[in-house]
Amino acid sequence: MAEATLRVFRGDSSGGQTVDYRVPVAPGMVVLDALHYIQGHLAPDLAVRWNCKAGKCGSCSAEVNGRPRLTCKTRMDDLPQDQPITVLPMKSFPRIKDLVTDVSWNYRVNRKIPPFEPRKGVEWRISQLDVDRVQEFRKCIECFLCQNVCPRFFVRVAGLEMHPLDGLNRAGLLKDQLGLGYCNITKCCTEVCPEEIRITDNAIIPLKERVVDQFYDPLTMLFRVFRGSKEKSL
Ligand code: SF4
Ligand code: SF4
Ligand code: FES
Repeated sequence: MAEATLRVFRGDSSGGQTVDYRVPVAPGMVVLDALHYIQGHLAPDLAVRWNCKAGKCGSCSAEVNGRPRLTCKTRMDDLPQDQPITVLPMKSFPRIKDLVTDVSWNYRVNRKIPPFEPRKGVEWRISQLDVDRVQEFRKCIECFLCQNVCPRFFVRVAGLEMHPLDGLNRAGLLKDQLGLGYCNITKCCTEVCPEEIRITDNAIIPLKERVVDQFYDPLTMLFRVFRGSKEKSL
């Protein structure tokens, strides 16, 4: 049977180093299988987070050969096996042990985002076009691979802001607290998304348009000033 070398990070928050393991490669094997082989035969104390092995729970994120990936969706035969395959924890999050990182920052940011609030006095009917639009963002499995390349948090906001029956306006939050203006639409987040959500084109750019419309469009600003002075004189 063919063999590959996995070069896996071993260590914790205080430091560590990579360790090489030789692993037999069976047809159809993914990197997570290889990590399980290591746990089962070579290093039972290797810490690896995973749940579904089906690309749906978002917990097996790591950097494989320098690229953020789900290890359960990364086939061994897609990687060059004449050199060691590096498997490192996500770099942007604090290490806990080996490949397991502390992703709780994402949950703290998530708590800042006000949840869905139904619009009042509207008929509860949604066109299929709007359903499709929001559905793309609902595919997010919270693997945090996009956050690993760039600490932005726009997919969930987009799912709420573009919901036709949501009554809240999160443009101020996007501008002042979530750093929408810092995004330079380079699409690195989109490139690593295992769900193929078009984060930049379909979430970020429409959100930027909303913020620009609301805070920087001179006509809207004039309208607001005019409305404000009228309201004062009433
Ligand atoms: S498009 Fe680039 S800058 Fe914007 S959130 Fe994605 S990775 Fe970050
Ligand atoms: S948008 Fe994509 S990369 Fe980001 S957390 Fe969701 S599924 Fe993962
Ligand atoms: S184990 Fe669930 S996404 Fe990889």
